Amino acid sequence: MVEPIRLTTRAERETALAQAGWNVFQLSASDVELDLLTDSGTGAMSQEQWAALMIGDESYAGSKSFQRFREAVREVLGFPFVVPAHQGRGAEGVFFGAVIDPGEIVPSNAHFDTTRAHIEIRGGIALDLPVPEALDPRLEAPFKGDMDVDGLVELLDGPDGERVSIVMLTITNNAGGGQPVSLANIRRVAAVAREHGKKLVLDIARFAENAWFIREREAGYHSTPLPEVVREMLAPADAVLMSAKKDAIANIGGFVAVGEDEEFFHRLQARGIVSEGFPTYGGLAGRDLDVIAVGLREVLEEPYLRYRIGQVAYLGSILSEAGASVVQPVGGHAVYLDAGATLPHVPVEQFPAWALSCSLYLAGGVRAAEIGSVMAGRDPETGENRHPPLELVRLAVPRRVYTSRQLEQAADAVAATLAEAESVRGFELVEEAPVLRHFTARFVPLDRRLASLSAEAGSV
Ligand code: F0G
Repeated sequence: MVEPIRLTTRAERETALAQAGWNVFQLSASDVELDLLTDSGTGAMSQEQWAALMIGDESYAGSKSFQRFREAVREVLGFPFVVPAHQGRGAEGVFFGAVIDPGEIVPSNAHFDTTRAHIEIRGGIALDLPVPEALDPRLEAPFKGDMDVDGLVELLDGPDGERVSIVMLTITNNAGGGQPVSLANIRRVAAVAREHGKKLVLDIARFAENAWFIREREAGYHSTPLPEVVREMLAPADAVLMSAKKDAIANIGGFVAVGEDEEFFHRLQARGIVSEGFPTYGGLAGRDLDVIAVGLREVLEEPYLRYRIGQVAYLGSILSEAGASVVQPVGGHAVYLDAGATLPHVPVEQFPAWALSCSLYLAGGVRAAEIGSVMAGRDPETGENRHPPLELVRLAVPRRVYTSRQLEQAADAVAATLAEAESVRGFELVEEAPVLRHFTARFVPLDRRLASLSAEAGSV
C-alpha cells in the first residue's frame, strides 16, 4: 500500500496545532509528515495477514476464525483459555472488572496509562515499583524494565499486603523507556507472588520485543529459539493481557488468556459477553481474529525482529547524534527523549515534555507522544497534578511502515528544536477530562506569539 504524505510549512503547522488546542492527539493525521505518535495499530499488515483476512469466518458463534486464533494463542503463548476483546483496554476492562475491589493495590514494574485508568476507575491503586536504575535516563543497563523485588516483598509482607491479589509486569515497560524485563526478574517476581498466594499477570503487548532482548542480553539464551524464549517468559504467569495492536501486528484487537484456572476463565468470559461480545468474537470481526493469529507467529520471525529492533536503535543513534538527550539504552518500540534535560528552564508545572512534543511538530512535522505530567493525570485522592520522576517524549516506530530514511526527518526536527530550545516556553492546561486527559486536553501556550495564534484560531 502506498500512501501520499502531504508536506507542510511551519506556518501551516502552527495554525493546525493552535486549532488542535496545542494537543498533537487532536491534529488531523494529514497535517503530520512523520507519525511517531504510537506503534499501536499502526503497523502494516503482511501479505499473509491480508490473505487471512479473506478467509475470515463471520459466524456469530464458534467460528473457524476463533478456532485458528485460539490455536495461535495456545501454540505461541502457551495459554489454553482465551477471551478476545476489541483491543488491549477492552481486555483490561474484562480482567480488572473481575479482580479489582475498591482499595485493592496492584503493584507493577510500571503501569501504562490505560491499565492505571482501569484500576483507578474501580477504586484501586496502581503502584509502580520500578528498579532504581529505571529512573536514571543516562544509565546503560540491560533490563531497566525489571521490578524492584525487594519493594514487592516489603509491600506483600507489610500491613497492605492483604490488599493485593495480583502482581503485574508490563513487558516491555512502555511507561519508562520501552525497556525489557529479564527472565530472572519474571521468575523472582513469580516466586514471591506464589509464596504470598497472589496471581502473576503479565501485560504482553510487546512480548516479542521483550523476548528478543532476553536472547540478546541475558546469559544462557543466546542460541535459544525465540518461540522457546517466549514460552519460558510466559510460563510463570497465571494470566496475560494483550493488546494485539502491538506485537500481533494487527490494526485492532486484544485478549485475556488464562493458564490453568478454568473457573476464573469462565468468570472472565461471562464479563466479556456483557461488554465485548460473544466469547468467540469478543468485539472483533472473524477476519480480525485471523489477522491476529497470523501476526502472533510472524512477529517472532528472526529477520523481522532483527530489522525492527535495529531500526529503533538506528533512530536512537541519529537522535543522539543530533544532540538529543535520549533515554539509554534505546527500547524495543520507541526512542524516549528526556524533556527535563532538553528544556531545563520549563518547570514541571508548565509541562516540559508536552512543550517538547509540540516543538517537534512545529519544527519538523513530526508527531510524538508526551509521557510526562499531562499523561500522569491527577491523584484520584488529592486531585493534584501528578509529576512522574521523568518527563519524557516518546517517538514510537510503527511496525513495517517507515523507511530508515524517513526516520531521519525526526533527527532534523530534533536538531531544529534544539537550536531554538532556549526560547521554547511551557503550556497552561485549560481543559481536561477526568480520566486519560492527554487525549483530549486543551492548552494555552505561555509563549506570547503562539498564544496570539490560539486566539486567531478560536481554539480557546
Ligand atoms: N498495555 C500497554 C503496555 C500498552 O502500551 C497499551 C497501549 C495498552 C495496554 C492498551 O492497549 O491501546 O489496544 O487499548 N498503548 C498504546 C501506546 C496506546 O501508544 O503505547 P490498547
